[in-house]
Amino acid sequence: MEAHQREVTTIEGLAKSPRELHPLQEAFVEKGAVQCGFCTGGMIMSAKYLLDKILHPTQLQIRQGLSGNLCRCTGYNKIVEAIDDAARRLAPAGEGK
Ligand code: FES
Repeated sequence: MEAHQREVTTIEGLAKSPRELHPLQEAFVEKGAVQCGFCTGGMIMSAKYLLDKILHPTQLQIRQGLSGNLCRCTGYNKIVEAIDDAARRLAPAGEGK
């Protein structure tokens, strides 16, 4: 019942439309952070939660923010790069530091 009367956003609800992806989704595609896609929903939603709290996370903060999500395909570096790239798109340098 923890979600009762709460707003829940899923990966499907993140994009504004099928043709207008969220910057995190765009960055994952462009940086090659999606391979089989099994982990992608969890990775992106964890990254969204992180970037909502921290505008410009360090690589360590990104890796900590992804803890609990396992990827057997990418080796994590491309995922971390994608989240770093998305952070720059969402809050250009100088904002929030
Ligand atoms: S992309 Fe395949 S498990 Fe992460």
